Amino acid sequence: MVHDTHDEFAGSVFGSGRYRTLRRIGGGGMAVVHEAHDLALDRIVAVKRLRPELAEDGVARSRFAREAHHAASLNHPAIVQVYDTGEDPGPAGPVPWIVMELVDGVTLRALLRHDGPLAWRRALRIAAHVLDALEYSHGCGIVHRDIKPVNVMVTADGTVKVMDFGIARTVHAGGGALTAAGHIMGTPQYFSPEQALGHPATPRSDVYSVGCLLYELLVGNVPFDGENAIAVAYKHVRDEPLPPTAVRQDVPGAVDDLVLHALRKDPQLRFGSAAEMRSAVARIIPDETSGPGAAGSAGRGGRRRRAGAAGGGGERTRRGPERPARRTRSRRAEATGAGGSGAAAARGGPGTSAVVAAAVVLCVALAVIAWMVG
Ligand SMILES: Nc1ncnc2c1ncn2[C@@H]1O[C@H](COP(=O)(O)OP(=O)(O)OP(=O)(O)O)[C@@H](O)[C@H]1O
Ligand SMILES: [Mg+2]
Repeated sequence: MVHDTHDEFAGSVFGSGRYRTLRRIGGGGMAVVHEAHDLALDRIVAVKRLRPELAEDGVARSRFAREAHHAASLNHPAIVQVYDTGEDPGPAGPVPWIVMELVDGVTLRALLRHDGPLAWRRALRIAAHVLDALEYSHGCGIVHRDIKPVNVMVTADGTVKVMDFGIARTVHAGGGALTAAGHIMGTPQYFSPEQALGHPATPRSDVYSVGCLLYELLVGNVPFDGENAIAVAYKHVRDEPLPPTAVRQDVPGAVDDLVLHALRKDPQLRFGSAAEMRSAVARIIPDETSGPGAAGSAGRGGRRRRAGAAGGGGERTRRGPERPARRTRSRRAEATGAGGSGAAAARGGPGTSAVVAAAVVLCVALAVIAWMVG
C-alpha cells in the first residue's frame, strides 16, 4: 500500500456536485480510496479514484475504466456493490472514479497482520464466501484475476466482500489490448502457473489464487515467495508447496487435500470450478458455510470458537515458533497443462531439468516483464 502525505482530494466535490470527499481510507498502486458523502441520497459511500499522476497514462485509465465497467455489472452479497462511475477533470487529464458501497470492515491483509493465521474453520468459511462470489462472477463471464488478501474485506458481522474486479476480463472475450501479447496480470504471489507462463487466466486460475489465499490464511505466509516477481512466478510453475499441515499440525488432513488440490499446477487437475471447490469446503465444514456471519467477524472479537465442532483437531488460531516439522507428501511437479514450457519442464524430471528449467525461467521472465510493462 502506498502512503501519501498530501491528499489532493480531501474536501473536494465531484460527480457534478453530488458527492463530497471526506477522509482517505486507503490507496494501492493505481488508486486512492476515500469516504465520501452522497449528498443526493444522504449516505456515506467509498470513492476510488485513479491516482492523478496516472491520469495521463492511457493503459492505467483503460484498466480503471474496465474495473468500473466489470464491477458495476456484478450484484452479489459477497461482492462490493458499485453505485456510480464517472470522470472529473484533473490537472493531467480526466480522473476516473468509482463510487461504491463503503465496507465497514478490514481487509484480510490487515486481519492477518493483526491476528496472524486464522483458525482453520474460520479460514475455510472465508474461502467459501470468496468462492461464492467467484462462482457468481464466473457465471457472468468474468474472471477476477487478482484474488489476494488486500482485495477481500470482512465486516464486523462476518460478511465477506470481494473487491477489485479491476483486472478482470470477460471469459469469452478472448482478451483485449490489456491482455494481449502474453501480458499477465495479477499479483505474483497469488497468480497461477498458467498466468506465470503468460497464458490466459480462466476461472480455474481464480481457483488457484483462492488456494494461495486460503494457504496464507491457514499458515500465515503464501505458498511461494521470492525476491522478485520472476522468482515467485518460477516457483508457481516448478515448485511444490509445503502442505499446510507441515506448518500447522492442528489443520485436518482434509484441508491439506483441499488446498493442495486447488494449487495443482495443471488447471485440468484442479477443482473444475469455484463451485466445485466450494462444495469441497462445505464437505469439511458442513453447516458452517451459509448465512451471514458464517465467515466470522473482523478483528479480535470475531474469533469464535465452536464447542464440539466436528472435523478433528482443535481450532488453534496461532502456533508457537514451530518449524515446518514434516513434509507429508512428496509430489512431482505436474505438467502445467497450459501448453507452455512449464509442462515440458515438469515432465522432464531432474535429469533434463537444467535445460528445461532455463527455458521455464526465460518463459516466466518474458511473461513477468510483459506484466510489469503492461
Ligand atoms: N469499498 C470499500 N470500502 C472500504 N474500504 C475500501 C473499499 N475499497 C477499498 N478500500 C480500502 O482501500 C484500500 C485500497 O484499495 P485499492 O484497491 O486501491 O488498493 P489495494 O487493493 O491495496 O492494492 P491494488 O492496487 O493492488 O489493488 C483497500 O486495501 C481497503 O483498505
Ligand atoms: Mg485492491
